[in-house]
Amino acid sequence: MKLAENLNVLFSEEVLQARVRILGAQIASDYQGRDLVLVGVLKGSFIFLADLARAIDLPLSIDFVGLSSYGDATETSGVVQITTDLTRPIVGKDVVVVEDIVDTGLTMKYLLENLETRHPRSVRVCSLLTKPSRARVQVPVSYLGFSIEDKFVVGYGLDRAGLYRNLPFVAEVK
Ligand code: IMP
Repeated sequence: MKLAENLNVLFSEEVLQARVRILGAQIASDYQGRDLVLVGVLKGSFIFLADLARAIDLPLSIDFVGLSSYGDATETSGVVQITTDLTRPIVGKDVVVVEDIVDTGLTMKYLLENLETRHPRSVRVCSLLTKPSRARVQVPVSYLGFSIEDKFVVGYGLDRAGLYRNLPFVAEVK
């Protein structure tokens, strides 16, 4: 793919794919015999979720939730709204929420509280990335790809102003 000059690759396609395979194997071993539902957070998780789901060698179902937060382009305000809801109940199910990045944690905190009201059997978080230095609330990430510094990153589902989601790697925008 032709690279934009302002991108600095942090995680190559090979590195991402290797990490996703490990996460998938961990989830498969933890959820044997369970009623597993992967809940992808739109839109940023869609590529990660597509690869992760294929790395989990178990029967599972997939659903999506769309969230919007009121904030500026690069910072969440903490006021979150569900714009697209799950299509099926999760009562009694073992849910793994699949997210692209946990930044301040405010979006995920809201989502976890919302999901708990639907009485799943369990809920855990799988996030490709976290930015620990930016955390404003603690969100337990049971399955983590990589921790990064306070950089704005794009690719592998992550966007800036709607662009870059289709890059097969994760890059910092300089
Ligand atoms: P939080 O509520 O601050 O944790 O924000 C989480 C959401 O902000 C993520 O799901 C992304 O949509 C977005 N976000 C945070 N950091 C980045 C980044 O570096 N690149 C692209 N999107 C980001």
